[in-house]
Amino acid sequence: MAKDRTLYLCRDCGGHTPRWHGRCPHCGAWNSLEETIPAPEPAAGTRGRLSALRQGLAAEGSLARLADIEAADVARTPTGLAELDRVLGGGVVPGAVVLIGGDPGIGKSTLLLQALDALQRAGLPTLYVTGEESGAQVALRARRLGLGDSQVPVLAEIRLEAILATLQQQRPAVAVIDSIQTVYTEQLTSAPGSVAQVRECAALLTRTAKDSGATLVLVGHVTKDGALAGPRVLEHMVDTVLYFEGDAHSSFRLVRAIKNRFGAVSELGVFAMTERGLRGVGNPSALFLSQHREPVPGSCVLATLEGTRPLLVEIQALVDAGGPAPRRLSVGLERDRLAMLLAVLHRHAGIATSDQDVFVNAVGGVRIAEPAADLAVLLAVTSSLRGRALPRGFVAFGEVGLAGEVRPAQRGQERLKEAAKLGMAVAVVPTATLPRKPDAAFQRATEGLALHGVERIEEALEVVRGLDLG
Ligand code: TYD
Ligand code: MG
Repeated sequence: MAKDRTLYLCRDCGGHTPRWHGRCPHCGAWNSLEETIPAPEPAAGTRGRLSALRQGLAAEGSLARLADIEAADVARTPTGLAELDRVLGGGVVPGAVVLIGGDPGIGKSTLLLQALDALQRAGLPTLYVTGEESGAQVALRARRLGLGDSQVPVLAEIRLEAILATLQQQRPAVAVIDSIQTVYTEQLTSAPGSVAQVRECAALLTRTAKDSGATLVLVGHVTKDGALAGPRVLEHMVDTVLYFEGDAHSSFRLVRAIKNRFGAVSELGVFAMTERGLRGVGNPSALFLSQHREPVPGSCVLATLEGTRPLLVEIQALVDAGGPAPRRLSVGLERDRLAMLLAVLHRHAGIATSDQDVFVNAVGGVRIAEPAADLAVLLAVTSSLRGRALPRGFVAFGEVGLAGEVRPAQRGQERLKEAAKLGMAVAVVPTATLPRKPDAAFQRATEGLALHGVERIEEALEVVRGLDLG
């Protein structure tokens, strides 16, 4: 159809050309042209609406003090899955577009079907658009989830125009597109799943959602295959970006918010994949601790913070004789930071690992980005190096600087309380996180936890050696 309307847009200079070239005729960049649909001329009606909108914006004296503007809190509808609501910032917001990314098979369709069913049961009109599976397959999943009587309307469709028509007709409050990579528009010649298709289809769906006030959830596969456009190209255009993480070999699934215009980012929802779908895990701390009967060398429990929630995670390290080019590998932690920490360990504590392979791992498939993990990483490394386990119930946190100083971590006291709650016995933490004069409430909350404040990495190692002897 409207192929003559197709334009090619240069990613580098933003110039247009009606035909594809290997090289942009405007700026000369190679391979920078991408197919797009040009924006239609605004219709007369649109122009009228725009001026009405502008009037709404610029009523009487267009400047207003922030304090005088009424900031109505956005209305949210809880999905009924508490862990999902936590990452969304309380529930779904009308007109918001949510992108859920994750590896194939991790549980995106399962989670969204559960959420849609709960919303439908709560009286909200929903719509589940499936492009990956047939209606029968979705129904099978629903039975498996114990939702055989679900009233969620299912549309098996991949043509964008048909999906848009259904959205306009059915006016669902919450619609899921599973997945955005399968949707295509005939207005573009490129294949479904290509960057151009994914971006244009998402843009058009987003516009429809904003116009109708529906919450739109786009599912996107993260793929390593260059031919398929991952959710990355959509991140800027949506309001909320959630990523599914998890170890393929464990049943735990983490949903993390990495962008949220309607809530806090880096909140974490924890689920367990069971025979009957995903179940929220209310108190996840214990999950990320492996169950050693006796303390083992190379293991240190970290009290970390996920969003607003303290979480105990076991950090494991293995230090082993390496070849001429020793390796530094980390799973769930930053590798560059590991290299830096090993340099600090050498320089300030005189412990060399330059001829050793060093591997570190955060147990349970959790990803830790905060620098407060440093101290636990270093203590796990030295424990493995010396072949001596840290004492039973040992926990640590604190950022380690290049000068060897141990810096305070935010919400340190909450981390300590969580550690005490989970039966930890010894904590080595930045001195600055300990209250100067602990009040009765703090003492009660951390009862049974021996607190050791340290200011330098050497000092932390000294405390650990002392515990060995004691
Ligand atoms: P799915 O939601 O299809 O993943 P995605 O949409 O991200 O590709 O999840 C598929 C996996 O989950 C599959 O390996 C089977 C498993 N599963 C369960 O273990 N229990 C269940 O109740 C369901 C529905 C799926
Ligand atoms: Mg799926």
